[in-house]
Amino acid sequence: MARVKLDLTRDRELFAFIFARFIDGEFTGLKEGYALNRAPTLEAADFLARQIRDEIRHARMYRRLYEKLGLKNRAPRSSPLMSAILTPVTGRLWAEHCFLDKAIGERWVLYLMEWLSDSVADRLVVNNLKAIAKDEQTHIAFGEAETRCYATSPWRRYYLWGLFLRVDVALTILFRLTHRFFKKRYGSAAAKLLDDFFIVTRGQVAEDIADLLQVKNRRSWLQLVVCQLVFIVRYPFVGWWRNPRQNF
Ligand SMILES: [Fe+2]
Ligand SMILES: [Fe+2]
Repeated sequence: MARVKLDLTRDRELFAFIFARFIDGEFTGLKEGYALNRAPTLEAADFLARQIRDEIRHARMYRRLYEKLGLKNRAPRSSPLMSAILTPVTGRLWAEHCFLDKAIGERWVLYLMEWLSDSVADRLVVNNLKAIAKDEQTHIAFGEAETRCYATSPWRRYYLWGLFLRVDVALTILFRLTHRFFKKRYGSAAAKLLDDFFIVTRGQVAEDIADLLQVKNRRSWLQLVVCQLVFIVRYPFVGWWRNPRQNF
């Protein structure tokens, strides 16, 4: 059955919300600068520098799409709660950064872009999304490669899967909290589209990540809590004051 297409004029408010969140996401991408302190090689640092250029270009593209909607106000920022849940851990351990920000975070963004491309008829929007998606695929591929280099022992794989579970739970809570508001504000059809996207993508991302880490796709609260505690305890020892020169 053909999917209902969103219309740029009719669903203007919904697109404004989505483009504004994309702009937020691209600006978090600028925090890749912190991760430069953690880059283990000059090649990795070079990749991050290119990625920052990509994210700036993407932010401009989304801003132009937002302006095309003809709304008077500037793209609104997300709520503090949403920012807290979606803000990545850029600048922490290199492997955590590559895994959480790139392999997981950018994967969600890519799937959202692909879903949107299939849900909208406007050529300009689709072309922009496809161009950005190509860059995001390279960011994800880099994150996956670095994750594979790190996840060489069962404990490391266990730890990363536990961190993945935290992201999974955080996104599910965010989805449940915003679901009713979303339906009220943008209508049942838009809410249904988003429901379908979330359910399908959540399952797909879990499969992808289990495959990447070579672990069973199984949700465990105990694993989530243990790995989260390790994550918190390790934090004081991995601050951002480190001099990147010591890496090379
Ligand atoms: Fe981007
Ligand atoms: Fe990206």
